[in-house]
Amino acid sequence: MLATITMPDHYGFIDHDVYAFDNALKVFDWNIRSSEVVIDMTECETANYQAVSLFVLYLWHLRANDNHITIRFSANGKGASQMWRWMGATGWSQVLNDDQQNFRGTPTKPLIALRNKPDFENAITKLDVYTKDFNVEYEKTLRYVLSELMYNALEHGKRFRKILNHEKQIPSIIGFTWYKLRNELHFIVADSGIGIKTHLEQSFGPFDTDEEAIRMALRPQVSGTFSTKDPYVSKDNAGVGLFLSSNIIKRLNADMHIVSGNGLVHVSPIDITGRKLKYEWPGTFVLIKVRLAHQLDLNLHSLMAELRATAKTELSEAEQAESLNRLLLVVENYFGKHAEDKGAAISYRDRYILPAVEAGRSFQIDFKNVKNAPHSFLSALLATPIKRLGMRAFKKIKILNAPTEIRETIDYIMDENIADQNSENE
Ligand SMILES: Nc1ncnc2c1ncn2[C@@H]1O[C@H](COP(=O)(O)OP(=O)(O)OP(=O)(O)O)[C@@H](O)[C@H]1O
Ligand SMILES: [Mg+2]
Repeated sequence: MLATITMPDHYGFIDHDVYAFDNALKVFDWNIRSSEVVIDMTECETANYQAVSLFVLYLWHLRANDNHITIRFSANGKGASQMWRWMGATGWSQVLNDDQQNFRGTPTKPLIALRNKPDFENAITKLDVYTKDFNVEYEKTLRYVLSELMYNALEHGKRFRKILNHEKQIPSIIGFTWYKLRNELHFIVADSGIGIKTHLEQSFGPFDTDEEAIRMALRPQVSGTFSTKDPYVSKDNAGVGLFLSSNIIKRLNADMHIVSGNGLVHVSPIDITGRKLKYEWPGTFVLIKVRLAHQLDLNLHSLMAELRATAKTELSEAEQAESLNRLLLVVENYFGKHAEDKGAAISYRDRYILPAVEAGRSFQIDFKNVKNAPHSFLSALLATPIKRLGMRAFKKIKILNAPTEIRETIDYIMDENIADQNSENE
């Protein structure tokens, strides 16, 4: 069997200024086994380093599936073919075979295989090279974020496969690029592990979608390692890595995209949005874009203290609410300041609010810091629960800290759905 995988021209995550992850993911065929596979890079004149680095994980996957691989480079040696060389990705097979080897690219285009502590330190050293000319707070802050993502890849994204009868660890990868003109630092941490949804399900039971699981993973004290099934699984994780790093990203005026399975969640300085992708990544990758400013008005130490305090209040409020048999939703933490994602509201409603209604629990929805929540969002979240509760909705649903406009919209939804029901009953 012969299969050809073509890297198209303009290969990357962005299409006409918008993120289009499906463009990058649709080229991969994950089901090829025991075949001759040609990876054709000849057509690709322009590409993005982070997207091209995903091909390294793909090649490892093909190798684990017992394929024989040939890569075709362009005749002029330019474009993706050149990027591949600069990243040292030509060493993909040696790096897979030998834990001591890593990619030997040019210093400005680091690509690192992540399997163990030395690889971890190697990546941190390479990141420091980029940030050393900037504010020292940047150095510390970015190092912190990268460390959390690398720990996650090492702890939760590990993958082992038999290759030529030897059990092998498939490494995760990290790649950085500094776009000098725009003064942006982009980096990716990617793995081919079980994915966030499957990992979290060890503690939380089934999720409907990958997106929902990713959103859950961003909350404080949510960890797939809290499993009670296996008493020997280590429980060293506090479940705060993604909570802290995503909040730091917001403050840095940066963007974080998390892709796992077919779920995509985007953390931006103003909101958290997500959606379902058409194609999937079997594992997890996190892409970060930071606009570097020479002046950074941020102190990592005090920011961390502040975030830990936020996490603590959220958790103690949640615990308190729990003990009062109440469900608490802190809208900002789950949906961001601009709570507009109707699909996410529907999954939250189905997963948490409706079961709470069934169980006779009451709930509190806290709109603190939320700038806007349009009618369609609030209606997706609340109309059905209100309908089911009828008049009891006034007692069971408590709205906290809502700005007037949101308050009025909710009152309107209340009236509308309770009135509906009354007339149905007549
Ligand atoms: N790369 C990944 N692959 C699979 N699951 C992941 C990955 N990254 C995160 N997760 C899931 O999301 C959960 C939350 O991650 P987070 O970093 O917030 O907490 P943690 O790693 O469990 O604990 P801590 O980071 O505090 O040590 C993880 O426990 C895991 O279930
Ligand atoms: Mg973690």
